[in-house]
Amino acid sequence: MEKKELAYKLKEFYLLEKLQVDYYKAQLSEAKDKYYRKAFSKMAKIEEGHVNFFVQKMARENIQIPEAFGSLFKIAGRILGESVELTGPVNTCKLGIALEKKAMEMYRMFIMKSWVDQQLRNDLMDFLIDEEFHKLVDEKLFEEFVY
Ligand SMILES: [Fe+2]
Ligand SMILES: [Fe+2]
Repeated sequence: MEKKELAYKLKEFYLLEKLQVDYYKAQLSEAKDKYYRKAFSKMAKIEEGHVNFFVQKMARENIQIPEAFGSLFKIAGRILGESVELTGPVNTCKLGIALEKKAMEMYRMFIMKSWVDQQLRNDLMDFLIDEEFHKLVDEKLFEEFVY
């Protein structure tokens, strides 16, 4: 992978992961159910781990860390490539699932392009699996409480 492409990808992942941290923190502040409070706080921590990974990777590669500007939902709209409607729990929940799906899709593509860098590939696969679990929790919440 070319240096320029790697820089672009790392920045993109960094922003997406930051967004997921914000998303789960926002969900945590809303949730009353004890199980989901635990789930959201756990997922926020895992997403923070992902953010830190990209921060460190960018620092090692001498890539400038992008500034996350705009509201959570504006960034979400940009990343998901559509305007995200966020009134009400149904849409909020759908956003969480959409973000996880997007992350999984991006990780799969990045993994395919990272065959030479075994360590990076290995780390990315770990993150992909994390996102798969998150999506399951988000879908469970959607089915139980919202749908
Ligand atoms: Fe993540
Ligand atoms: Fe996630």
